[in-house]
Amino acid sequence: MWTKGWDFTEDLFNFVGCKNMKKMAPGSMKQCLFLFMLCVSLLYFLGRFKRGFKNYTYHLSNTNFTILLWHWPFGQSLSLNGDVCWDLYKVPNCKLVDQRSFFPKADVVVFHNRELIQGSQKLPIELPRPPGQRWAWMSLESPAHNGNLQKFADVFNMTISYRRDADVTIPYGELLPKEAEDHVAQESPVNKRSLVCWVVTNYQDYHKRSQVYKKLNAIVPVNVYGRWANAPLSSTELLPRISPCYFYLAFENSVAQDYITEKLWQNGYQSGAVPVVLGPPISDYKAVAPNHSFIHVDQFTSVREMGEFLQQLAKNQTQYNEYFTWKQKWKVKIYNDWRERLCKICKHKNSLPQYKVYSDLEAWDKVNYSLV
Ligand SMILES: *[C@@H]1O[C@H](CO)[C@@H](O)[C@H](O)[C@H]1NC(C)=O
Ligand SMILES: *[C@@H]1O[C@H](CO)[C@@H](O)[C@H](O)[C@H]1NC(C)=O
Ligand SMILES: *[C@@H]1O[C@H](CO)[C@@H](O)[C@H](O)[C@H]1NC(C)=O
Ligand SMILES: *[C@@H]1O[C@H](CO)[C@@H](O)[C@H](O)[C@H]1NC(C)=O
Ligand SMILES: *[C@@H]1O[C@H](CO)[C@@H](O)[C@H](O)[C@H]1NC(C)=O
Repeated sequence: MWTKGWDFTEDLFNFVGCKNMKKMAPGSMKQCLFLFMLCVSLLYFLGRFKRGFKNYTYHLSNTNFTILLWHWPFGQSLSLNGDVCWDLYKVPNCKLVDQRSFFPKADVVVFHNRELIQGSQKLPIELPRPPGQRWAWMSLESPAHNGNLQKFADVFNMTISYRRDADVTIPYGELLPKEAEDHVAQESPVNKRSLVCWVVTNYQDYHKRSQVYKKLNAIVPVNVYGRWANAPLSSTELLPRISPCYFYLAFENSVAQDYITEKLWQNGYQSGAVPVVLGPPISDYKAVAPNHSFIHVDQFTSVREMGEFLQQLAKNQTQYNEYFTWKQKWKVKIYNDWRERLCKICKHKNSLPQYKVYSDLEAWDKVNYSLV
């Protein structure tokens, strides 16, 4: 250390042009020492400044962003003890609370739509909104189940939904690149016993999916489970029931922009059956799902054509297996904890617009949507 320190002083001497001090005239020696002292002081202040700057930035980033959840979705509360966002999801500086006394300090106040439209919860419109505070409208339902939102004109500053154009997007699932430690032997689809399976709880004749099902069932046999078929499945029975099927009908209950639910992410991708999807246009699926991982109803000019394609695909092992190659590169992450979705708001805190008001939330919600 000492030698190092000495080397440094010598280098500094050389730097200010005092290489051969002993042979110098007294005048240039003074100048030399002055320069030396100047350099030392400069370095000292630079060090001070750097430390101070670090402290400053540390301080800035250490400020919590406070998210107040006004009421729990579906009345099901979860623990918010400790630093939840950091402890569970490694999101820093994010304070998630559900005590309404935090209202004056909250950066974002989140309102889950279901309870508002049912009337079991109310917006605190009588409370003065602290400047800069944002009110967020949150829903994972399709427009068909969000109710009439006209009464919420000019109330909310942000939206939290599965839609890609929401201020904070909380999808049902998403793709993550596989990491080295994830690489396991390629899971090849085995023990397929039936061609097409469907699970349906809420069957309505007017649903587009019901029409497609009826036509398809007339061409190829469809095994139907779920409450409608008097064959309800518990959550643990679901995937084992789907996995012996070549294809699983991941048919959404309504057709709306980006409305792609656990029917694809979980029932489809995690069962080992190839999902046949009905929902938003192919481009919405392509934006979030891997290439060649699903079959879209719109790819065919008729249900008959689709039925024949599925039959032929099940017979060709090579071609069928191509629908699983994406699993070599990608893994699926399912979201099912509201706390994780809420902590996600903090990741977007710097990209939220300074000022925004949803003057017509109803129009925003009902865009690109059809009931059938
Ligand atoms: C950083 O700032 C905090 C709070 O203002 C202070 O207590 C601390 O002493 C500072 N640290 C340094 C290294 O300056
Ligand atoms: C931020 O919030 C967490 C969780 O409530 C808390 O543990 C932490 O002390 C807070 N930090 C600051 C700087 O207020
Ligand atoms: C899907 O294919 C397109 C072109 O064929 C390519 O640009 C894109 O990167 C692919 N996406 C993924 C997730 O592999
Ligand atoms: C099976 O599919 C592969 C790949 O798509 C194709 O090359 C092959 O000709 C098909 N075999 C039969 C018997 O149709
Ligand atoms: C949020 O919306 C309210 C009501 O329209 C508005 O008064 C307020 O300025 C907005 N705040 C932000 C941060 O956009």
